[in-house]
Amino acid sequence: MAAASTLQILFKPYKSSRNPYHNPRRNYSRFMCSVASQSTPKSYKITLIPGDGIGPEVISVAKETLQLVASQEGIQLQFHEVLLGGAALDSTGVPLPDETLSAARQSDAVLLGAIGGYKWDKNEKHLKPETGLLELRAGLGVFANLRPATVLPQLADSSTLKKEIAEAVDIMVVRELTGGIYFGKPRGFGTNDNGEEIGFNTEVYSSSEVDRIARVAFEIARKRRGKLCSVDKANVLEASMFWRKRVTKIASDYPDVELSHMYADNAAMQLIRDPKQFDTIVTNNVFGDILSDEASMLTGSIGMLPSASIGESGPGLFEPIHGSAPDIAGQDKANPLATVLSAAMLLRYGLGQEQAAQRIETAVLETLNKGFRTGDLFSTGKNNMSRRKRY
Ligand SMILES: NC(=O)c1ccc[n+]([C@@H]2O[C@H](COP(=O)([O-])OP(=O)(O)OC[C@H]3O[C@@H](n4cnc5c(N)ncnc54)[C@H](O)[C@@H]3O)[C@@H](O)[C@H]2O)c1
Repeated sequence: MAAASTLQILFKPYKSSRNPYHNPRRNYSRFMCSVASQSTPKSYKITLIPGDGIGPEVISVAKETLQLVASQEGIQLQFHEVLLGGAALDSTGVPLPDETLSAARQSDAVLLGAIGGYKWDKNEKHLKPETGLLELRAGLGVFANLRPATVLPQLADSSTLKKEIAEAVDIMVVRELTGGIYFGKPRGFGTNDNGEEIGFNTEVYSSSEVDRIARVAFEIARKRRGKLCSVDKANVLEASMFWRKRVTKIASDYPDVELSHMYADNAAMQLIRDPKQFDTIVTNNVFGDILSDEASMLTGSIGMLPSASIGESGPGLFEPIHGSAPDIAGQDKANPLATVLSAAMLLRYGLGQEQAAQRIETAVLETLNKGFRTGDLFSTGKNNMSRRKRY
């Protein structure tokens, strides 16, 4: 059954009380991209970037879903598809063509599948698919990456943790996205004093970079359960000591939010031991990369987790947290829900279309309620069918 037709059957008048993704107490307007806070235009330009591997498979489902919900909500969506990553390298010789960045900048929101694959693994760094993605994020100035990890009641059995540990987990990881060791200079290869070859990178943050991500995280925590845990390695790294000092300073503007600090290694352990202790987590680029992937396993599968990346102005970038999964690409095994839920985040944070976002989330929950599962969510007694047949 085609993706959209299945979802269409499941689309019902939404009720926010049934939707664990949506908290009626939360006011999302503070985090919306600039277009989302304008006087509700109903026509939007969306840049679609399918990318590589399973990217095109999951983007096609998300596009159909967006088209369907747009028609139901009276919204006009104009899609413009562009290349990034390996697909762009094969076609243009660079991982981020100028046309892609310019189309993304001129649109109201960007929806990305995933990039990367074995074929380009040995490329020089500037010709790697991942370089294109990092350049796109930097080019859009999206410094705050919001990664919700919500264990849905329907999927508590799919978590690798015991049900009593996993159920009701609801964490928002706020990851700094455009600074830190992934961008810091100096970086490169060289030779040390002993004549040995070395590789090196630099973890560096400025006060403005830490302050702005801390403010986003405090605002989010304030609208959730009022608890923010800042994760660092301040016992070892100067950049982390500085991070902790700045986050603590910003905390004085948010007396209603309870701030705690945790070392990254302990956070990795606590996420498995007692994940319900966390509400909102804020952390740097590299720790956020690792911890949000770890948090994803609490929810059952990396195939379930959406993300939103937003900046101070301009379009946001919405993408699943998983990669291009070359091991299952082209086999109709990919779970498209992380991308479909990213499309819901696009509607909420990118366009300010809250009702349309909730329609998608409700349809996802209803699909799971009916017992449909992709292989990554396998569990006994469910319809573990291929995506094309079931979504
Ligand atoms: N944002 C991105 O585009 C992004 C993020 C991470 C990795 N990558 C790239 O993706 C490639 C593969 O990386 P990786 O294997 O480390 O990570 P991955 O997320 O692609 O895959 C990890 C595992 O999860 C499975 N998986 C991922 N998404 C799934 C889905 N939607 N449904 C079902 N199963 C899914 C895969 O089959 C694999 O077993 C690499 O080239 C990497 O650089 C891209």
